[in-house]
Amino acid sequence: MWYGLFVVEEQFTPPVAILSGGGLTVLQAQLGEWDNLNHLLVCEKTSVACIVDPFSGEYWNDVCIKNGWELNLCILTHSHWDHTKGVEELLRVNPSCQIWLHENEALRGWSGPDTDRWSHEQYSSVNFEIGALSFNIHLTPGHTPGHVSIIGNGVYISGDCLFLGRCGRTDLFGGDLKSQYESLLYLKSVLRKLPNNWLVLPGHQYLLADGSTPTTSTIEELLKNNLALIGIETWDNFKKLHFLSFDDNLAEKARRQRAQN
Ligand SMILES: [Fe+2]
Repeated sequence: MWYGLFVVEEQFTPPVAILSGGGLTVLQAQLGEWDNLNHLLVCEKTSVACIVDPFSGEYWNDVCIKNGWELNLCILTHSHWDHTKGVEELLRVNPSCQIWLHENEALRGWSGPDTDRWSHEQYSSVNFEIGALSFNIHLTPGHTPGHVSIIGNGVYISGDCLFLGRCGRTDLFGGDLKSQYESLLYLKSVLRKLPNNWLVLPGHQYLLADGSTPTTSTIEELLKNNLALIGIETWDNFKKLHFLSFDDNLAEKARRQRAQN
C-alpha cells in the first residue's frame, strides 16, 4: 500500500505505485487516448527520478516536485509521437532534465528534442545510472530502429517492443520484421536469466486473449504466455503472427514515407 504520494489533480489519472520500499519506487500512469503507460523510476536513496516515455511533461514534473524528487532524467524507449509527446513541455518546465534515446531513431526521421544519445550496437546493452541505481539499456530494434528496453532492479520496461500478450508492430516507418525477430530471440535469452518475479511494464495497456487488461505482469508469466515469445521458436511461425502489421491509417502513412525515401 502506498500512503506518501501526492497526486496531481488535472485531467489525467493519478499515478499508481507499482513498486516501493526496496530502493526503487516505480509509479505508473496511463495517459492519453492511446492507452500509453508512463513509468517514473525513483531512486529512494538519492531522490533522483527518471521518467520513461512521458505523454505529459508538466504532469510528471508536478508529481516529482510534490514528492520532493529531482526529475533529472528522461528515457525515450523510442521516438513515436505518443512516447515523446511530453518532451518539449518537460524541457520547458524543467530545462536541466537530460533526455536520452538511441541515435538509431534518427533513421526514422527523429531530430529531437533530446540532449543525449546512446550509440551501442543492436542486441547489446550499456549501463545507465539513476541516482544510486544501475539499469541496463538494451538496443532491441524492430518496432523502430533504435528501440531500447530497460532492465534492472526488479523491473523490465518493454516499451512497444513487447506488450504483455504480444509484441509491437513492425510495419510502421523504420520498423523491420527480421530485426524484431532477432530482438525477441535476444530478449528471451536475457529474460530467462532474470528472477521470475521481476515486473514487466509495457508501453501500452492492451486487451489480452482472456479479456483482461492488466498494466503489469511478471517475467514468469510473460515467458509462459506471450504469443510473440512463443512464436519465435521458428522464423516461419513468427512472420505469420497476426499482430506484426495492420491495415490501417498508420500503415498507409508508413507506405507513403517509404516511397518518399
Ligand atoms: Fe511505438
